[in-house]
Amino acid sequence: MTEKFSFTLHATDGKARTGVIHTPRGEIRTPAFMPVGTAGTVKAMMPESVAATGADILLGNTYHLMLRPTAERIDRLGGLHKFMNWPKPILTDSGGFQVMSLSGLRKLTEEGVTFASHVDGSKHFLSPERSMEIQRLLGSDIVMAFDECPALPADETRVAESMRLSMRWAQRSRDAFGDRPGHALFGIMQGGVTPELRAESAEKLTEIGFDGYAVGGLAVGEGQEAMFGVLDYAPGFLPEDRPRYLMGVGKPDDIVGAVERGIDMMDCVLPSRSGRTGQAWTRRGQVNIKNARHMDDPRPLDEHCTCPACRNYSRAYLHHVFRAGEMISGMLLTWHNLHYYQELMQGLRDAIAAGRLSAFVTEFHALRAEGDI
Ligand code: GUN
Ligand code: ZN
Repeated sequence: MTEKFSFTLHATDGKARTGVIHTPRGEIRTPAFMPVGTAGTVKAMMPESVAATGADILLGNTYHLMLRPTAERIDRLGGLHKFMNWPKPILTDSGGFQVMSLSGLRKLTEEGVTFASHVDGSKHFLSPERSMEIQRLLGSDIVMAFDECPALPADETRVAESMRLSMRWAQRSRDAFGDRPGHALFGIMQGGVTPELRAESAEKLTEIGFDGYAVGGLAVGEGQEAMFGVLDYAPGFLPEDRPRYLMGVGKPDDIVGAVERGIDMMDCVLPSRSGRTGQAWTRRGQVNIKNARHMDDPRPLDEHCTCPACRNYSRAYLHHVFRAGEMISGMLLTWHNLHYYQELMQGLRDAIAAGRLSAFVTEFHALRAEGDI
């Protein structure tokens, strides 16, 4: 095991890449999907089960953990990996994005953001320096720079001002992070859907120098076409020898499109959250287990899936436990969804390595077009 953080590219196919991120806590095979463990748990899953789905890394949130149970308490208890029993790598988001989407009253200044907790209304402050300190106390392996992101559509002046503030915060994040062998700091590109602003942001970040680069400010209401429009050029602004992370994405077809455009890492609550609302994702698209058509169906969700939900339970059972409000419903569907996402990533990695990504993508879309039968 290397003690340093590094990224090795193994193969490319068109713009798509496959490789490995090495960290002292283990390897991350890319393209990688990171399940979201916001509050120190991937909801409805034991960490051993998350690992069994094939996940190499989880995402945790500065915003939630600083409010409850606090970063200082997690530090005293030995860090987030020990606290939540997840020994593999953890990436933590920096908090600014969640303040904007979740907290109550907030005030944004050059220094940082003051906000009211969504838990109890108490007042808190986050800045690049405080976010770096919290992510260090958590013991995060991949730390995200502190940024700000407007919801789209937003007018271009607002997007430009916000991006430039995020770039000043990126420099302060870099300075506050310091030199921490084995831990990585990623910068976050902003700039909305304007190529010139994306280019300016990428130039600023590469000048500062980060271990990896995220494409932020997407999947915030612009739609898939506009998102792919940005992904057609934005990853090309970033250094080839560093991982590229698309934040908060997405549906299976978003993931496939992003990987085709040169993205190496992604995260999304979708597989876990939709598992708890009765939505399953399969090779044939979305299946709503609430639907009465499953009531007498003895077949598994997907006869080709090897997850515990598909190996051991019928659609009729999954439908029944969902309707009855039983906890196992969220557990089984979340497991299936995370398993499906990780199988998709493995399929993408294998296809890129073999130089047959376009055939893989054609087959991916063809099965979905047939639908659930
Ligand atoms: N999650 C999804 N999008 C973003 C973003 O632009 N910035 C941060 N920090 N987190 C995100
Ligand atoms: Zn399954």
